[in-house]
Amino acid sequence: MRVVSGMRPTGKLHLGHYFGVIRNWVKLQEEHECFFFIADWHALTTAYKNTKELRQNIREVMIDWVALGLDPDKSVLFIQSKVKEHAELCLLLGMLTPKSWLELNPTYKDLKYNLLRLVDLEREFKEKLKETVENLLKSLPFQITKEDKFKEHLLENLTQTMIEALFEGEIEPEILKRLNVSKKDFYETDTFGFLGYPVLQTADILIYKGEAVPVGEDQLPHIELSREIARRFNRLYGKIFPEPKALLTETPKIPGTDGRKMSKSYGNAVFFTDTKEEVEKKVMKMFTDPQKIRKNDPGRPEICPVFAWHKLFTKDEELVSQIEQDCRSGKLGCVECKRILLKHLEEFLEPIRERRKELEKNIEELEEKFLRNSEKAREIASATMEEVRKAMNLP
Ligand code: TRP
Repeated sequence: MRVVSGMRPTGKLHLGHYFGVIRNWVKLQEEHECFFFIADWHALTTAYKNTKELRQNIREVMIDWVALGLDPDKSVLFIQSKVKEHAELCLLLGMLTPKSWLELNPTYKDLKYNLLRLVDLEREFKEKLKETVENLLKSLPFQITKEDKFKEHLLENLTQTMIEALFEGEIEPEILKRLNVSKKDFYETDTFGFLGYPVLQTADILIYKGEAVPVGEDQLPHIELSREIARRFNRLYGKIFPEPKALLTETPKIPGTDGRKMSKSYGNAVFFTDTKEEVEKKVMKMFTDPQKIRKNDPGRPEICPVFAWHKLFTKDEELVSQIEQDCRSGKLGCVECKRILLKHLEEFLEPIRERRKELEKNIEELEEKFLRNSEKAREIASATMEEVRKAMNLP
């Protein structure tokens, strides 16, 4: 089975990346032919204004990947922008991809509204427009055959129009002030490249005839779109592409130090570049059960991020159940519990830190490996493009 996946180089990796994605990739590379790439073009779909850190970010990802166990001699680890064929296929797929598929893509909207902090406003608008849509439906001069679908469509479009009108200053400008977003912010993400994000992602996968795409749940709508685009291509020009499937593997969710989802922007992540001292500081400040105030108060491990981490890092299962018991009974205090965690966390992190250091020292060698792998990827990509051009009667 051929496996393809990518990651945007947005900065240093943290524990969440490892448990959410990389650990799974490391397993897959033992059994399958894997193509994993750094999606630097995708990073530009949102961060096109400031590219100062792009090169360094790419380097950090290369170092982290290999330090975490991805092996450039087993998997094809490469850089997207070094395989120009992705762009050619993206262009051609763009010809046959309806704009509406992209505009209604939930991931596109989520990302965009998240960036603009518009998630709540959109919901509010939608709620308010529901009745309007009902009334509109009654006053239409023709019969609607698929009422539910049509309603949904109408509501979606009306909401989008409202939001655009808001940014154009056609309705209450106070809302924008309150949300602290501007017309400029809106149009900054309203680009051709951002809308076309999933088309490029589809090209990334199809160019290797990828069958399985290991991704997080948030990427499912993108993969569904890739399948639709592949199907449409095959119908129009002949069957060249397999329909890629998302490979959702159960991944233990590792909470951040404050119990929320681990994310750089929340400031609750432990990075592989953190020193021992930094990790210690972060762990000692971790949130625990708020009802366990004094050392001997009984705690609830099931809601405690420290305990969630024990389950991942403390390999001795007996010790983990002892910790669980002693937390519940009030015998074990949080400070002590964190000390035990630190020891096991360090056993995991220290070798990674060491490997990072080695790789950093030989960064040129590592870059060379990624470039050679990009060439390898390119051979397959250009063979696919030959087929595609032929199928489309391009010279
Ligand atoms: N969109 C993916 C993400 O943000 C990254 C990505 C780009 C990708 N191209 C891909 C993932 C192709 C899988 C296949 O996580």
